[in-house]
Amino acid sequence: MARIIGGFTTSHIPAIGNAMEKGLQQEPYWKPFFDGYLPVRMWMKEMKPDVAVIFYNDHGLNFFLDHISTFAVGAAAHYYNGDEGWGLPTLPPVPGDLELSWHLINSLVADEFDIAMCQEMMVDHGLIVPISLALPHDGEWPVRVVPIAINTVQHPVPSAARCYKLGQAVGRALDTYEEDLKIVVFGTGGMSHQLQGERAGYINKKFDRMFMDKLESDPLSLTRYSISQLMEIAGSEGVELIMWLAMRGALTGKVRTLHSNYHIPISNTGAGVLLLENAA
Ligand code: DHB
Ligand code: FE
Repeated sequence: MARIIGGFTTSHIPAIGNAMEKGLQQEPYWKPFFDGYLPVRMWMKEMKPDVAVIFYNDHGLNFFLDHISTFAVGAAAHYYNGDEGWGLPTLPPVPGDLELSWHLINSLVADEFDIAMCQEMMVDHGLIVPISLALPHDGEWPVRVVPIAINTVQHPVPSAARCYKLGQAVGRALDTYEEDLKIVVFGTGGMSHQLQGERAGYINKKFDRMFMDKLESDPLSLTRYSISQLMEIAGSEGVELIMWLAMRGALTGKVRTLHSNYHIPISNTGAGVLLLENAA
């Protein structure tokens, strides 16, 4: 049977991809941030997950205002990176897991989540930056992925509680998958940030810290924030924290924090990372 071995959450700022490409990891601005991922990389190396199921939000690359799906599950053999900016070299396409994608799609629809199914899906920094941080490629990516995109671009954005329930449905589906796979679940985005308007640059460290603590011990308390409350407290783009709740919902076992790091600011964002164990 498949086994969910853990969860990983991280901010997914595009400037991180640029810093990796330019080799700036040891620069004073970046070092405290990148050092926060060393324990994650070690754990991934030791545990060797076969598949990463990745809750992330697309930023207008694959889904634009003419067609936005609330929840969309990838079912492609490969996912191509179409990230924006800096003229970065194209990264190798990330391999998918078609069988697991279709198992998830079938299970979710049977479980009353009427998701979109995407047999082609371009992915942006919301997916590429987190796998680069946790499972860097060496010409080839060491993991297959199933992307699950959650809309944060156009209102109405699904509630924190709904995203947590989606995560729970994903967890149930993974637990019933018969192939002997080690699966890690990612939630990418956040933490507090606002990129626009009068409050551009807004970060709420106290809230981010509380969110990181409660994600392990009391995730249900975090699902009670409405989308407008999250935007008020964590900034308009801080609403991406609903990905963290989707990830947490998918952890069906005994959850324990193995590692956490928080560093502000990276670009305009409170940058947080959490590695959670999901023991049987
Ligand atoms: C930044 C953060 C994001 O989550 C994003 O999608 C784009 C930019 C930033 O802080 O620069
Ligand atoms: Fe983002």
